[in-house]
Amino acid sequence: MSITSEKVLEALGNVIDPDLNQDIVSLNMVEDIQIEGKKVSFTVNLTTPACPMKEQIQRACVNAVKHLVDAEAEVVPNMSSKVQQNKKIEETQTDTLSGVKNIIAVASGKGGVGKSTVSVNLAVALAQTGAKVGLVDTDIYGPSIPTMFNVRERPNINTRRKLIPLEKFGVKLLSMGLLVDQDQAVVWRGPMVSSAVKQFLSEADWGELDYLLMDLPPGTGDIQLTIVQTVPLTGAIIVSTPQDVALDDARKGVAMFQKVNVPVLGIIENMAYFTPPDMPDRKYHIFGKDGARNLAEKLDVPFLGEVPLEQTVREGADEGVPAVAQDDLGAAAISFKEIANRSAQQISIRNAMQDPTEKIEIKFK
Ligand SMILES: Nc1ncnc2c1ncn2[C@@H]1O[C@H](COP(=O)(O)OP(=O)(O)OP(=O)(O)O)[C@@H](O)[C@H]1O
Ligand SMILES: [Mg+2]
Repeated sequence: MSITSEKVLEALGNVIDPDLNQDIVSLNMVEDIQIEGKKVSFTVNLTTPACPMKEQIQRACVNAVKHLVDAEAEVVPNMSSKVQQNKKIEETQTDTLSGVKNIIAVASGKGGVGKSTVSVNLAVALAQTGAKVGLVDTDIYGPSIPTMFNVRERPNINTRRKLIPLEKFGVKLLSMGLLVDQDQAVVWRGPMVSSAVKQFLSEADWGELDYLLMDLPPGTGDIQLTIVQTVPLTGAIIVSTPQDVALDDARKGVAMFQKVNVPVLGIIENMAYFTPPDMPDRKYHIFGKDGARNLAEKLDVPFLGEVPLEQTVREGADEGVPAVAQDDLGAAAISFKEIANRSAQQISIRNAMQDPTEKIEIKFK
């Protein structure tokens, strides 16, 4: 019996995307089926290039065709990706945001827990998977991104009078720190900050982006609340350290996003433990153990992972080379990469679960 595209498609209808809980054919992920004798090739478009299930789905495709169509088939799935656009952005499309598929806020209740470090490493890690990534530093009082990426130049303006983001490690960057004189910034009030953030997003030429990460200033005050309400966010990631004072603030962060109906994509535990380089088997839980993991469970939001306290992370931040972009990857860098994949996975799940946009019907009497 010869192999046909119909049979292949029917077989692939048995491959389930474990995150979205639906088969890859119904999800319109399969295209371009080619058959030459026993050779079967096709493209599977996952919802993110950072999909942690990529290999599992690929194996399932090969097995499905071999078991259900032809045991001697040579199956070559081409694993590709098309990141889904978040509906909130689709609805509020402005000229410049039209190419941006997802906007993610990185927040914390407490200051100094590593929000900027996490934002920077997640952005670079996502870009390393092949995703198109942008990063905005909205912290006008204490911008970190110029230092963490070692970029100082003022962004240029293009012929359409839009700001051109800088680019480093494959990430498009804009920071308040590149535009506002630090001595002036201290007198800025909340409304000025949020309108500047809005301008940042709408008056910059971001082009096509799968993920635009926003590093928020610490806290859950007016400024954060206004930013969160003015931007069509896909979701928020909360960073916390394990000790109680940080966790109390992280809980407030989760509550703030839930109040304004922004999904919390998950909590990250930073500075989770310390392993002395000369004692690689030891883990010292300096700030306590599993605090953020337990909080995530209690609040019923995903736990995205833990990042150890590591000297190279701090040095990388000060020298402008994020841990995930360094030659030798330590435990922290490996965690950042895993957390980036899990975050992308949560974004895909959220986008797939969204209600379809309701059509408004106008009736004439
Ligand atoms: N996992 C880590 N290991 C080592 N150092 C870290 C780690 N995470 C963050 N740091 C260091 O801790 C300091 C604070 O981190 P960072 O600036 O990212 O925090 P933040 O939450 O953005 O602070 P702010 O509230 O001021 O915006 C920095 O010096 C950073 O390099
Ligand atoms: Mg910061």
